[in-house]
Amino acid sequence: MILIVGGAGYIGSEINKELNEAGFQTVVFDSLVSGHKEATKWGEFVQGDLNNLEDIRGVFKKYKIEAVFDFAAFIEVGESVKDPQKYYFNNLVNTLNLLKVMKEFEVNKIIFSSTAATFGEPKYTPIDEVHPQWPINPYGWTKLMIERVFADYDVAYGLRYVALRYFNACGANDEADIGEDHAQESHLIPLILDAAIGKRENIKIFGTDYPTPDGTCVRDYIHVVDLASAHLLALKHLMDGGESKQYNLGNGKGFSVREVIDAVKKVTEKEFTVLEVERRPGDPPILIASSEKIRKELGWSPKYTEIEEIVATAWKWHQKKDDK
Ligand code: UFG
Repeated sequence: MILIVGGAGYIGSEINKELNEAGFQTVVFDSLVSGHKEATKWGEFVQGDLNNLEDIRGVFKKYKIEAVFDFAAFIEVGESVKDPQKYYFNNLVNTLNLLKVMKEFEVNKIIFSSTAATFGEPKYTPIDEVHPQWPINPYGWTKLMIERVFADYDVAYGLRYVALRYFNACGANDEADIGEDHAQESHLIPLILDAAIGKRENIKIFGTDYPTPDGTCVRDYIHVVDLASAHLLALKHLMDGGESKQYNLGNGKGFSVREVIDAVKKVTEKEFTVLEVERRPGDPPILIASSEKIRKELGWSPKYTEIEEIVATAWKWHQKKDDK
């Protein structure tokens, strides 16, 4: 049985679906603070909170867990600056709780959602795994601290982990049965789609004077289905007895905010107002991943590399979500 902590969220639910399709048995453990029960229709489901050791022990007692995926974290960079305590308790302390129970039950394999935010301001691009890690916000620090904890637990207790550092996760699967649905949305693609569908009056471009070809920030948009395939390869790696690893996950191509807006206009054939406003604090001009390491070592390669294709899958889901 594979345990998916935070499996009711955007990325966790996609991995749960794909694990089931690949023949694995899964149990999702989620507090439903931000996840959606209807996104957990594959495998078993247990509602519980990582701040409660007995909740976690309950799952390990009930099921014979072979490996764990951990997607349970708060992810809003801006909120983490305003309320770091919320982030350090949930993302750091609660993950320590999970590791404690894994150790009690002698489960030593974990695949962890880490982030490009562990790198902070890029010193060079594309960002590879040896790029220095010095986060510029509490969110990034919580994830980097856990990466450090894993490294120490590996040496001391034989924990084997794969930390996957996502760049800008986006898109939805072909069936568009689950997808991105945050109560407080701050991510670019769903916000532009909200403008296209008429739920927002406009989309604001945060800064047009960056040192980039069109003056707007460039990001590496990685499709959730490509993230899922990387997770399955990481699981196989650990199940085959592989050692602990860290991998950056991006599609290797950067797209500017203007390019993403143009792609949405083309795909949706909708017009909407685009406003140019001040920079948002803390945004580096360019974030592009080098994913050479996971390509070489695990044979991963992304299916979705063109922004219009990516946006089209997100649009399909976005319209469905709003019909619900
Ligand atoms: N943007 C706008 N207008 C908006 C929203 C975003 O112009 O209304 C811009 C941002 O300024 C940024 C780009 O669009 O340049 C992408 O912004 P997102 O908020 O979608 O994503 P980020 O690149 O800020 O954040 C992502 C992940 C974080 C992670 C971070 C790593 O979502 O979890 O990359 O730096 F921490």
